[in-house]
Amino acid sequence: MIFDDAKIGRVKGFLDSEEAVTLYETALEAGKKGPCLEVGSYCGKSAVYLGTACKENDTVLFSIDHHRGSEEQQKGEQYFDPELYDDREQCVDTFRFFRKTLTNFELTDVVVPIVCKSSLAAKTWSTPLSLVFIDGGHSFEAAFNDYNCWARHIRPGGYLVIHDIFPNPEEGGQAPYQVYQYALASGLFKPMGMTKTLGVLKKLACDEMPVSIEETCLHNSPRDFL
Ligand SMILES: C[S@@+](CC[C@H](N)C(=O)[O-])C[C@H]1O[C@@H](n2cnc3c(N)ncnc32)[C@H](O)[C@@H]1O
Repeated sequence: MIFDDAKIGRVKGFLDSEEAVTLYETALEAGKKGPCLEVGSYCGKSAVYLGTACKENDTVLFSIDHHRGSEEQQKGEQYFDPELYDDREQCVDTFRFFRKTLTNFELTDVVVPIVCKSSLAAKTWSTPLSLVFIDGGHSFEAAFNDYNCWARHIRPGGYLVIHDIFPNPEEGGQAPYQVYQYALASGLFKPMGMTKTLGVLKKLACDEMPVSIEETCLHNSPRDFL
């Protein structure tokens, strides 16, 4: 698939173009085995890449966002965008932008928008997922909660992709990096490489045993791990 960079460039978002290609290629590989899911739809940039891969595999992308913006996207914060603020409702509303993106990229029959908190969507979830992309809230609590809610639904051999991984604290917030490290320490995933700040992990297949059960159970709480 060749993407129209100029068209995608008009979609608000934070995904770098090289990261986007990795996301697309990973979803294309993963999606042969079932649906993909992302936490953090925002205005739909990542959904264009994931959704296009899902379309090619004739599967679906579940895209979760309460569409009220993360902490850092609120009024007065670093990533606040006044165009996304609904004056009447007095809050951020990215859903109308997200819908427009799906329409513009002919993805309305591929992407299933889920408009609520990630934890609520996860509450009774039971569909195995071939790929989970975590790009929601970037506080430790939010990022770890997303991992905790969704990593267990990734099928063996499926992928966990995490955005905004900054090993150097001077370059960015540490929560996604810590979640990435935590996933690795679980013994359930192997690293498949980094593209800029995008980390790809593959869940081990059933016959790929972790080194030891002790290793897997070593870090039974994220706070212990830190
Ligand atoms: C960094 S943006 C996502 C960017 C998007 N993936 C892209 O490529 O443009 C993070 C999004 O996560 C959403 N979000 C934050 N915490 C959330 C939560 N607990 N449940 C659902 N969505 C959440 C915010 O509303 C925001 O739109």
